[in-house]
Amino acid sequence: MLKGKKIVLGITGGIAAYKAAELTRQLVKEGVDVKVIMTRHATEFITPMTLQTLSGSPVFTDMFTPIKDFEIAHISLSDFSDIIVIVPATANIIGKIASGIADDILTTTIMATKSPVLICPAMNVNMFENAIVRENINKLADHGFYILEPGSGELACGTIGKGRLPELAVIMEKIKYILTEKDLLSEHVLVTAGPTREPFDPVRFITNYSSGKMGYAIATAAYRRGARVTLISGPTHLQIPHGVNFISISSAREMRDAVMANLSEATVVIKAAAVADYRPSICETQKIKKKNEDLEIKLEKNPDIIEEIGQKKEERILVGFAMESEHLVENAIAKMVKKNMDFIVANDVTKQGAGFQGDTNIISILDRDGEMNELPLMDKTQVASIILDKVKLIRENRRKNPTSLTGTFPFAWKTVGDGDKVK
Ligand code: CTP
Repeated sequence: MLKGKKIVLGITGGIAAYKAAELTRQLVKEGVDVKVIMTRHATEFITPMTLQTLSGSPVFTDMFTPIKDFEIAHISLSDFSDIIVIVPATANIIGKIASGIADDILTTTIMATKSPVLICPAMNVNMFENAIVRENINKLADHGFYILEPGSGELACGTIGKGRLPELAVIMEKIKYILTEKDLLSEHVLVTAGPTREPFDPVRFITNYSSGKMGYAIATAAYRRGARVTLISGPTHLQIPHGVNFISISSAREMRDAVMANLSEATVVIKAAAVADYRPSICETQKIKKKNEDLEIKLEKNPDIIEEIGQKKEERILVGFAMESEHLVENAIAKMVKKNMDFIVANDVTKQGAGFQGDTNIISILDRDGEMNELPLMDKTQVASIILDKVKLIRENRRKNPTSLTGTFPFAWKTVGDGDKVK
């Protein structure tokens, strides 16, 4: 999502300055045009040559040294940027900005900009807790500057406390959050993700290959777009997305209970989880011991969570997934109708690049108006954004035409073949 963005990275004189080099590398890797400004003190900690090499652009350290294509550097840089990020931000730079001081290229660029500014403080714990620094930070926050809370831990000066530069992943996520248009502010999106585990003794269970990546990508994208997000997830190896209300569950029945407990608040429900349809009828309290004969495990049906939501859908937008190995369109339509979804995201697991474990998916979106949109292979983050665009469109259409809230289908579905209109 950062591809093509323009970021001015301001580096000030703290030991965490070296971490700005890795941040530059990560931003460039994501397709960002990074222009680096270093204060004089920053150059004591890391050389401009390092940042020039990593950013692929000249580094700005002085207001009066002309650089080709940047006639009046601070004005050009403040106009150039989609966002200015200060990593690390010392007590000194925070104090200067809060006091309106503009005496070097970084502070003049910040004073002249209309772009958002993200400040990532890093300093000694006593400095961070100093009442004047606190006052300055609060003042900047009141003026609309974005401030990231420093992390806690061992600091470069040997003390333990708050003052570490936030993790680079946290800074990257915050940049993405700030640069994303907030077009889902009025929605509360409940997302389910990952597999469920259905135990039959204390150490064994039935599950599936779901990685949770699709659901987590949707939760992340919805949060960035301003929605409140509840993510109910089965066991995965993924990092919990920033800013979401995260609920961890294991079995389908636990997922069902968590969904129902949170349903009243949700305006949108997206069921990306791969819920086990069956569970072992009995879960032994002791580990099953090996015997000479074969073992049979009887399975019984799990609740169909999305079907239950469909019955009490009200004005909620309900989105389901269908993972099929044959008759993709027919099966997906049947599921959408039966479970009263607004639209269904269908994918054919037999296709290379679609399905559970990977970072990509190949989907078709089928809706209750008879539209089918077949999309090419794409990243799961792109798929997430297309799903949320569709949610937004349905909400806009409903606002224009509230009678479409009845939850009934206005037409009879036909078995469909190719084409993008299946009515
Ligand atoms: N789903 C659910 N509860 C279940 C099973 C599925 O909420 N017990 C949801 C999934 O999260 C998905 C949709 O229903 O959004 C379709 O899931 P899928 O497993 O493809 O459909 P099933 O109805 O279980 O049909 P089948 O397994 O026969 O394909």
